[in-house]
Amino acid sequence: MKMANEKGNGIKGSVLITGASGGFGILFAQQLEQLGYTLLLHGRDKARLQLTLDTLKIPSKHRMLSSGLAARKEVDELIDQMLLEDDLVGLVNNAGFGVWGAFEMCESVPQLDVLRVDLIAPVMLTHALLPGLKRKHGFIINVSSLAGESPLPYMSTYAAAKAGLSFWSEALRAELQGMVTVVTLAPGPSSTGFRDVSGAPKGKGRLFSTSAEIVVSSAIKSLLQGGGYCIPGWRHKALWCLQKLMPRLLALPIMARYLKP
Ligand SMILES: NC(=O)c1ccc[n+]([C@@H]2O[C@H](COP(=O)([O-])OP(=O)(O)OC[C@H]3O[C@@H](n4cnc5c(N)ncnc54)[C@H](OP(=O)(O)O)[C@@H]3O)[C@@H](O)[C@H]2O)c1
Repeated sequence: MKMANEKGNGIKGSVLITGASGGFGILFAQQLEQLGYTLLLHGRDKARLQLTLDTLKIPSKHRMLSSGLAARKEVDELIDQMLLEDDLVGLVNNAGFGVWGAFEMCESVPQLDVLRVDLIAPVMLTHALLPGLKRKHGFIINVSSLAGESPLPYMSTYAAAKAGLSFWSEALRAELQGMVTVVTLAPGPSSTGFRDVSGAPKGKGRLFSTSAEIVVSSAIKSLLQGGGYCIPGWRHKALWCLQKLMPRLLALPIMARYLKP
């Protein structure tokens, strides 16, 4: 299927990928390069961004942008840079992290940063870049989570941020129908750097774990099919069914016991 943003001359324009220094971000970079896009790889860690760049077929075609997303000033600066990109056709809001632990025991700043990086930054970036993306019939991939489908004791701000991201992204998908392709990606557990950053023990959710390759390939497939709410792989789909079938009254105490530090 021909992408809405594909130009007749085969040149496809550039795509900003946030969180390009980590797990899903690396695979988004590789798979979008294969589709012919020029990549703007964003993250804080320059050395790890360079590692992503080194895995690409033509590294010299792409660029790295190193800054954070927690501070409003940093997001504003990234927006200013992106508004200078004439051929921006895609935005992958992938950067994100969670904090595992009892809400009361975790410092408030990292928890607020979860809301800023996982929810506020995607909203800010999208709002600023949308006029250009509309002109180009471009696309947006919002990397949310199945954590956004049900409250998560001991990762409460993460689930709140992802619930907000999923709802916002899905509403946006309806608003932009026929103008900009929107994918709301909602994976369950997958083996990336996410667990190390959040501090969550590695064993939790292992039963439903799905490879990062399946997660990102599913998102790209959804993009090529015109967007949608994308739950990758049968394990994540099974987890989603469980979330939908089990009443919250039952699910919350089970999850609280399971996730308690
Ligand atoms: N892995 C899972 O189980 C899972 C499941 C569902 C959803 N997700 C979502 O998938 C997305 C990608 O995560 P991942 O699993 O690939 O984890 P990861 O390997 O830890 O990658 C996270 C990326 O986010 C960036 N990031 C984190 N904090 C940032 C900040 N303050 N400012 C700018 N960038 C920041 C990191 O870049 P720097 O460190 O260089 O800043 C890194 O590139 C996240 O939104 C996550 O919530 C993951």
